[in-house]
Amino acid sequence: MPPPTTKPHSSTTSFFSAIKPPPSTPPPPLYTLLFLLLLVILGFYFLHHHHSPTTTAAAAADFLTPPQQTSLRFREQFLSLSTNATVSSYLRHLTLRPHLAGTPASADTAEFVHSHFRRLNLDPHRAAYRVLLSYPIRSSLTARFPNGTAVALSLTEEGAKKTGETEEGQNGAVVRPYHAYSPSGAAHAEVVYVNTGSEEDYRQLAALGVRVKGRVVLARKGGELSRGGVVRVAEREGAAAVLLFVGGGGGGGGVERGTVMNGMGDPLTPGWAAAEEGGGGERLGLEEAEASGRFPRIPSLPLSFEDADVILRSLGGQTAPPGWVGPGILAQRVGPGPTVVNLTYQGEKKEVTIQNVFAVIKGLEEPDRYVIMGNHRDAWTYGAVDPNSGTAALLDIARRYALLQRNGWRPRRTIVLSSWDGEEFGMVGSTEWVEQNLVNLGAKAVAYLNVDCAVQGPGFNAAATPQLDELLFEVTKKVKDPDFVGATIYDKWAAMNQATSIERLSGAFSDFAPFLQHGGIPSIDLFYGREYPVYHTAFDSYEWMVKHADPLFHRHVTIAEIWGLIALHLADDSIIPFNYVSYAQQLFKYTDELSHLLDGSTISLHPLVSAIEQFASAAIEAENEVKQLREGDGRDGLTALKQRALNDRLMLTERGFLDADGIQSRHWFKHLIYGPHGDYKSKLDFFPGIADAIHELSVSTTMSRSRQEAAIQHEVWRAARAIQRAAYALRGHIFVP
Ligand SMILES: *[C@@H]1O[C@H](CO)[C@@H](O)[C@H](O)[C@H]1NC(C)=O
Ligand SMILES: *[C@@H]1O[C@H](CO)[C@@H](O)[C@H](O)[C@H]1NC(C)=O
Ligand SMILES: *[C@@H]1O[C@H](CO)[C@@H](O)[C@H](O)[C@H]1NC(C)=O
Repeated sequence: MPPPTTKPHSSTTSFFSAIKPPPSTPPPPLYTLLFLLLLVILGFYFLHHHHSPTTTAAAAADFLTPPQQTSLRFREQFLSLSTNATVSSYLRHLTLRPHLAGTPASADTAEFVHSHFRRLNLDPHRAAYRVLLSYPIRSSLTARFPNGTAVALSLTEEGAKKTGETEEGQNGAVVRPYHAYSPSGAAHAEVVYVNTGSEEDYRQLAALGVRVKGRVVLARKGGELSRGGVVRVAEREGAAAVLLFVGGGGGGGGVERGTVMNGMGDPLTPGWAAAEEGGGGERLGLEEAEASGRFPRIPSLPLSFEDADVILRSLGGQTAPPGWVGPGILAQRVGPGPTVVNLTYQGEKKEVTIQNVFAVIKGLEEPDRYVIMGNHRDAWTYGAVDPNSGTAALLDIARRYALLQRNGWRPRRTIVLSSWDGEEFGMVGSTEWVEQNLVNLGAKAVAYLNVDCAVQGPGFNAAATPQLDELLFEVTKKVKDPDFVGATIYDKWAAMNQATSIERLSGAFSDFAPFLQHGGIPSIDLFYGREYPVYHTAFDSYEWMVKHADPLFHRHVTIAEIWGLIALHLADDSIIPFNYVSYAQQLFKYTDELSHLLDGSTISLHPLVSAIEQFASAAIEAENEVKQLREGDGRDGLTALKQRALNDRLMLTERGFLDADGIQSRHWFKHLIYGPHGDYKSKLDFFPGIADAIHELSVSTTMSRSRQEAAIQHEVWRAARAIQRAAYALRGHIFVP
């Protein structure tokens, strides 16, 4: 998975005021109103919330009903079962060999996980799919420098090889650095340095008189664009090929592999599961998939920082704009040339079998409600960080849950532990599974809890949909911080500023994307550290983990504890621990940011404000109901039915944010609050449809301004309707009482 590069930022500079003189009539002070409203709502909420006897997880045991006491006991037991030795042995085993999806070594890891679940009596299952993945055959890059020397760059990773392994082939060896789904092709042309490869970067180049048409562009990762986004923008600009490197060179010769496919899941079965039987048997032809824009049309290759640096230093031409230097990058000039490169790439797209593996712990009282935990298993190379630190944690949770079961624990709801395949190629395994089970997941999935790169370095991080904020805070208050004696995770992570510690899930860079952005299932993503230097390189090994990221495996244990405890609450609490007041607050904040951005336009945010008001009052009502129903232990039939009805509303509210038509240029993405924006830098990491429309306005030369503003207004209405649907789902009745 690509790790999120930077924390979401918010900017208050108006996009409109920058391009348009201020209007004669000032816009209504929308955000002032919003803040007043927010204060009123918060005041109301806190009065009623914090003065009533609290029955959250933090409550003293004597306030708890007998079933709650039992749950508490099992949660304490779960925490008492930690051993770093087992986690490290799981990771050691998983990372013995590289295990790229679709290879025999990858199938072996599926077997390892399956047999682990079987030994623990955890009802193991498999789901296999035939999908189109992409592998390299050969690649070459020669540079001819101004002094006349021609150098063949190695394109491999010196020093990363291990005993008995070669660079070639896919069985047991590290796959050569490549971009999955890049077309085969060649380019022989001058090099232009394009900074991070954004549209803005090309505009700056154009202002300098530098054209990239027919040339090979050299781009550094680190902007807001995805890898595929960098290639797509370069293609639109007319480049012949792309060379992509990571600034800083911390990888010590490492080269970052990755996918450049557009969209999610198997490219031959867009929107349906690549299953063998039934309707899943249909496949697009390769030409159809190509015509649908899933793959780039120009070849690209990843480059080590060292190789990129040699090329960068040799460029002449225009002086680089200020700000085009990154960590360790001294880009004096952008070209074009005089350095000329000859790039060739040959790859193959191949149908292979991938396997998701599951363990199922059946719920006793509500077996048809699912709490789904997931991590992918396939790796570009050895995968010690990405993703098997998460797999080791998952296997450890399985071990602990199996022990709890032996001690008499039966969860109220069903827990599913999932080990996905093919994530590195575009969330393929999880996407196919979600597409296959969409109706059942829509009706029965309580939440999806993702862990991908569990441990990349120091520092706990969490991202979530906002109704899970409170649960994250409660759980992290129960888990010790392995790096600070006497402190909890909460103390070091969120005690100072709850409001900004949890990130959101708009990116589509790990397996939560199909669950949340296609299925509308509340989701969490947990990880330690960020931006580690060996990402997607052959250096992502067990040895690197022990040396740099988690020498004693205590961070692995901590992630397992937080992840496992969150699932225990979601599976065992009589009322699902969701708090939609946090969601309402977050939506108000987004609208406030949006109002700053649209300051000076004719666009009205009133529909959004009014929908959020409805949503906020539904959230407060639901909280009051939660308090009343939590007191009852659900033993009598009527209370149990009422709890179930309330839980259904809490579960289904997130689905309201889905829209049948999805985001206009990426219909598969159905969630109108959280989803990836297009291939541009955006100030909004929410409301992806609105973000797209605002971006269109800034770049379109063909549509009139009023039509562009109407397009933004339409997206505002759509987001408002989504929020209103969610409010209706939370209220639960179809007629106003
Ligand atoms: C020619 O230039 C390249 C790139 O600047 C450099 O690496 C190489 O050592 C130079 N060769 C000679 C013979 O000067
Ligand atoms: C570019 O490199 C390829 C592979 O080494 C070679 O076959 C081809 O002739 C080269 N093209 C040019 C123009 O040098
Ligand atoms: C587990 O933790 C203990 C105590 O910190 C440490 O001595 C031991 O080496 C660790 N084991 C592994 C496998 O890292």
